Amino acid sequence: MSENTTIPTELSGSAEKLIRGRHATRAFRPDPVPEETLREIFSLAGAAPSNSNAQPWRVEVVSGAARERLADALRAAHAERRTSVDFPYSEGMYAPVHQTRRAAFGAELYVALGIGPDDHTARAAYDAESLRFYGAPHVAFLFVDGEGDARLAADVGAYMQTLLLALTAYGVDSCPQGLLSFYADTVRTELGVSGGKLLVGISFGYGDETAPVNRVRTERAALGSTTTFHG
Ligand SMILES: Cc1cc2nc3c(=O)[nH]c(=O)nc-3n(C[C@H](O)[C@H](O)[C@H](O)COP(=O)(O)O)c2cc1C
Repeated sequence: MSENTTIPTELSGSAEKLIRGRHATRAFRPDPVPEETLREIFSLAGAAPSNSNAQPWRVEVVSGAARERLADALRAAHAERRTSVDFPYSEGMYAPVHQTRRAAFGAELYVALGIGPDDHTARAAYDAESLRFYGAPHVAFLFVDGEGDARLAADVGAYMQTLLLALTAYGVDSCPQGLLSFYADTVRTELGVSGGKLLVGISFGYGDETAPVNRVRTERAALGSTTTFHG
């Protein structure tokens, strides 16, 4: 066997299964995740790395009656066009290659939802409905401490992926929802949170296996188009 041959280990096999096994779920059953399991998952997610181990994340996990109140408040904010973002968003931040990938994903999603490409009414209705967390019984909001410095936000991004994998490991499905971050003030008011910048909300619970939207699977760009090996 040559020195350069990769030898798969038990851990690499498990990692492959875990990382590739995670995907966004957009229809959930109402069954809650047991409280003890929630604690295990969020404790595991806290093992995420961060610059100098600062751990600049604030995590608000919302379930039960608080979840209902928040969903209602988000729907009301949406109806009244009361949006507020902590991290500015612009379509211009995407390069043409990103736009191409986004369009391919969007087309596949809307086919799965049975929504036509020009059916703007149905798309808007779907967006509004997604403010109910796709029916998930829980939602976690990830805030960046302080003024939302880009480097701190990157740490919270690392926390997000660690959380998504921890959820997957416990058989819990999830969907990060950037859309929820467009209602930062509503989320803060409803949860009584002051300070911090809202990066993303993550809806989670047990996926509805019968929903066609949950059969959407995304491709990734070829390794060479994103990654260069030097030396
Ligand atoms: C930061 C972030 C924000 C996202 N926001 C949304 C969203 O608002 N609505 C949604 O349905 N999916 C959202 N997603 C899910 C992505 O569409 C999904 O991760 C991507 O298409 C890759 O598919 P996969 O997660 O199934 O591998 C978001 C993902 C991330 C990481």
